[in-house]
Amino acid sequence: MNRVISIDGPAASGKSSVAKALAKILGWSFVNSGEFYRATTWAMLDAGVDVDNEVAVAEAAGSLELSAEMVDGISQVTIEGKPVASELMSSPEVNGAVSKVARVPAVRELVVERLRALADAYEVTMEGRDIGSVVFPETPYKFYVDASEEVRQQRRAAQGLTDQIAQRDRADSQRKSAPLTIPQGAVIIDSSEMTIDEVVTEIGDNLENGDFDF
Ligand code: DC
Repeated sequence: MNRVISIDGPAASGKSSVAKALAKILGWSFVNSGEFYRATTWAMLDAGVDVDNEVAVAEAAGSLELSAEMVDGISQVTIEGKPVASELMSSPEVNGAVSKVARVPAVRELVVERLRALADAYEVTMEGRDIGSVVFPETPYKFYVDASEEVRQQRRAAQGLTDQIAQRDRADSQRKSAPLTIPQGAVIIDSSEMTIDEVVTEIGDNLENGDFDF
């Protein structure tokens, strides 16, 4: 495993933009782990899998050809070797179903394996819900980016996206398998009143110990 900076947090907390900007500054790669769950959900909906049926989802996960490639330092998820368009992954249908798919242990095992393989090949900033707690508990560089629910709703609305954020957060935090949680040892940043650059700077301040080139 190469160096990993984990950035966890709820939906629309700004963690994705932060992780992407940080990767650029460091010359590392950026991995959005939510896209692996989103692409999986899209593929299952497309194949007509009943996402309320955990057994059916687990079975479908067993034969899913899920992979990723790095394109200009950003992970691009593929299904059966083909990239999944970001419009498909952020559709209302996927937003509504992704928490159901992501709670299934067989899906999580599949995705976690892919995420760890990326860290074997690249130095990465990786954002998600369980990156510091489950995927890379051994990384010393853990962050948890939060923001008030009101601010997060506004951010989604400004992107023109329909997303039942509160409902999704509840499902993601209450599930049995790798729930959204603040990883042990993570630095917590409330981004409600901060710009992306300010959050990146704060992370940089926490990382400055000679190992990092800011
Ligand atoms: O970060 P996002 O909103 O694009 O993530 C979409 C969904 O994927 C989220 O509601 C829960 C799931 N997810 C997860 O369970 N674990 C992760 N590490 C990342 C996302």
